[in-house]
Amino acid sequence: MADKQQEFVQLVGEIKAHHCSLRAGCLQAVPGDGNIDSPVVFIGEGPGKVEDELGRPFVGPAGKLLEEALSGIGWSRSDVYITNVVKCRPPENRDPLPAEVEEHKPFLERELALIKPKLIVLLGRHALHWFLPAEKISQIRGTAKRRGEQVFFITYHPAAALYDPKLKTTLMSDFKKIPTLLVTLDQLSSPVSPPLPSQPSIF
Ligand code: URA
Repeated sequence: MADKQQEFVQLVGEIKAHHCSLRAGCLQAVPGDGNIDSPVVFIGEGPGKVEDELGRPFVGPAGKLLEEALSGIGWSRSDVYITNVVKCRPPENRDPLPAEVEEHKPFLERELALIKPKLIVLLGRHALHWFLPAEKISQIRGTAKRRGEQVFFITYHPAAALYDPKLKTTLMSDFKKIPTLLVTLDQLSSPVSPPLPSQPSIF
């Protein structure tokens, strides 16, 4: 466990020290944070203004909504790990360019390799397209998808739901599926648990 923590500290240091093409236009790189032993990782797009100022992911208005959605299922941000596709704020919060996403790819890969989450929650289309480029958020949100060893749950980005009460309701009800999905994944991976004939298929 100490090794895992050490490796995480090393990774955070590398992310902070890395000078990517976005770095000149932002205040600092924003590594993921939270519980590195969590079975669930939440992935957003990239830091916004407040995140850039404070050096932590999802601490601005979208972060407040993410915390509200987590609290709706009895969780807090310290229970889970939260990160982004790109670790530096794109100018004026524009979409990250493919080359910028590519440049930051090893960091997200290393975060996931270290944490080995049972479930990866993709917040919005940038996170979705990082893993499942052919999928459309409007068609796939609210569902789980398996790719090899990785299991994803897809929902809207909290920022999209900030000023749209309908999207917020959908986001909140999507979140309600996450704990059950996690229990199902635990049961499926447990060598002692019997098959689950009554369990509806989630994939
Ligand atoms: N939006 C994101 O995608 N990530 C953050 O950290 C903040 C806002």
